[in-house]
Amino acid sequence: MKIKGLFLLMSAMFVGTMTMAQSADIDQRVEELLQKMTVEEKIGQMHQVSGGYQFYNDIVGGNIGSILNVVDPIEINAVQRAAVEESRLGIPLLVSRDVIHGFRTIFPIPLGMAATFNPDIVERGARVAAIEATASGIRWTFSPMLDIARDPRWGRVAEGSGEDTYLDVQMGVAMVKGYQGGDYTDPTSMAACIKHFVGYGAAEGGRDYNTTMLSERALRNIYFPPFKACVDAGALTLMTSFNDVDGIPSTGNSWLLDDILRQEWGFDGMVVTDWNSSGEMIAHGYAEDLKHATELSIRAGVDMDMMSFGFIQHTKALLDEGKITMEQLDNAVRNILKLKFRLGLFDNPYVDEGLAARVAYAKEHLDAAKQCAAESIILLQNNGILPLKDAKRLLVTGPMAHAPYEQLGTWAFDGQEEHTVTPLMALREAYDVVYEPILTYSRDNDMSNIKAAKRAAKGVDAIVVCVGEEAILSGEAHSLSNLNLQGAQSALIAEMRATGKPVVVVVIAGRPLTIERDLASCDAMLYAFHPGTMGGEAIADIIKGSTVPSGKLPMTFIRDAGQAPFYYNHPVTGRPNNGTETLLDAIPIKAGQTSLGCTSYYLDSGYGPLLPFGYGLSYTTFAYSNIKLDKSEYTEGERIIVEYDLTNTGDYDATEVAQLYVRDLVGSVVRPVKELKGFERVTLKAGETRHCRFELSVADLAYWNRDMEYVVEPGSFELWVAGDSASGEALSFSVR
Ligand code: NOJ
Repeated sequence: MKIKGLFLLMSAMFVGTMTMAQSADIDQRVEELLQKMTVEEKIGQMHQVSGGYQFYNDIVGGNIGSILNVVDPIEINAVQRAAVEESRLGIPLLVSRDVIHGFRTIFPIPLGMAATFNPDIVERGARVAAIEATASGIRWTFSPMLDIARDPRWGRVAEGSGEDTYLDVQMGVAMVKGYQGGDYTDPTSMAACIKHFVGYGAAEGGRDYNTTMLSERALRNIYFPPFKACVDAGALTLMTSFNDVDGIPSTGNSWLLDDILRQEWGFDGMVVTDWNSSGEMIAHGYAEDLKHATELSIRAGVDMDMMSFGFIQHTKALLDEGKITMEQLDNAVRNILKLKFRLGLFDNPYVDEGLAARVAYAKEHLDAAKQCAAESIILLQNNGILPLKDAKRLLVTGPMAHAPYEQLGTWAFDGQEEHTVTPLMALREAYDVVYEPILTYSRDNDMSNIKAAKRAAKGVDAIVVCVGEEAILSGEAHSLSNLNLQGAQSALIAEMRATGKPVVVVVIAGRPLTIERDLASCDAMLYAFHPGTMGGEAIADIIKGSTVPSGKLPMTFIRDAGQAPFYYNHPVTGRPNNGTETLLDAIPIKAGQTSLGCTSYYLDSGYGPLLPFGYGLSYTTFAYSNIKLDKSEYTEGERIIVEYDLTNTGDYDATEVAQLYVRDLVGSVVRPVKELKGFERVTLKAGETRHCRFELSVADLAYWNRDMEYVVEPGSFELWVAGDSASGEALSFSVR
């Protein structure tokens, strides 16, 4: 059953938030302007630089199309005035910035946002970011990052939605909608930039900027769908990635940028390189020099050059030498001008210089950031100690308890730490707190003051240890090969455990760390991916019990970095793990060579991860029952209806993220062991049962098969409804 046609038809029908008449009008204005432009002015539009005032003369000369990294509205207006009022054609600048998880009000890092499994709050977060950033005159953000990340060693796992394609699609689309809003010309609309196209998160060994090994089928089944979905949702721009895909750097890859993006998906937005990724094709050994790199980039379909300076220096000569055509140049400039018209910049280029200060940290922004943080926190373990309802006096310790800068996480350029509420600050509102940080930052090894904490522990009802990672330990260029807590943090937890007092550990980090030994040293553990401005209040509310945790893991938590990459939806192997594992200690000395009966696992850490994708506890418990399919056999075009009862079997009103997984049992190529196909946040009163349902279409079972066709292959399937990717009983159905 081929459904490629349907796929294309659906994208063709999508017209974004512009009417046909509006876009015809824009096309006409673009053509009129293009006619008036000199070659030099066209090339100028393709050139993006970092900075403002210092490029004044170039802006007046029409040699710059976009700037990044200027956030002061006075400077932005000044350089915009230079472009609009002093350059020959008055073409406004595109002002851009990495607004990744908030501008002033910082939301949890994107990995934390994904842990909410709540696209609505993620969309709201992106809208808040857009309102605050556009108030400074920033109309283009380099977000969302859609890179699927299966290896927590990669520092940029912080910036995306984790390991799952379906979750990434939902979160990416929510962010695009939130940034761009309903009407692009609205002054609060900020163009999204889906990045990094493509496969950047598959860097071998989780080492940033490393090469990737991805087949076309893996790209189509796993890495493309979030980009395709965001293109369909109207994302206005796309950024190429640093890495090569099958030997061809993305920035010079016409198969990716033209065949797939423009021809197959119908993308009519603008393509920008990553920072100097055009120039880096020289280091890749793919381009001889900057001129060659420029030629390769333009021919592949790049419109704008971020910071290689190759386009501005070499495009004219390439044109004169016939290495690129005027048509290629015009197409790139068209895409850039179209974006500027779409955003209404020609009609409304300036910003009210007092607005930014008025909208930053608005109460409703802080409330949304707090809700997002609260929903992003995952309860990993609890022996009943949490919530700390009866405790009065607490010892609060650890380097992340009062680290207002660090809890904002990576890419929080414009968040100001003086607005951060830390766990210490918020816990002080509710408890009598003794604060002994012991370690001053996450890499600190100096435990010389431990006696103070031990002394303080004597008089308290419970200890809250806040550990994790400083912001700089994750994010771009910050990969790690050892994922244990840094410094003496594990020792601090163990020392606190030794006091005999109940110990609650709060991990505040940019990635899944290997926390198995720390779990063994505490009564309860909360995991907060750098939770942003309001993170402290969200954490304290969960500790007090006024909020019940509901976050779920957007990435598998492994036991040891040596297990990476580990992801729940891996292809089935020929010797799948069957639970029988002979570990190191059980292997006799001089044991004879054998592999018979053996399956896929490590001798030292076995097979399973520490915690599965989708996992997260609550203060209550949930029971799934009466899970039923409406039929046992389906055909093309039909809906698959799954009904189930969800009961809150505990004492707290709470929210469960119900998850739907499917497995295609036999395929023309090896299929994943299971795949997420749906999720829903269900809020239930204590004791309440709700009859719920998921609906899928048979078309949702399609994938790119052996013949590289997007099809649903008839056959047998299994399906689960459960609270995480490792639970539940399989139901069977077939597709004819
Ligand atoms: C490099 C990063 O890879 C990219 O994500 C970011 O948007 C640009 N720098 C601009 O800062």
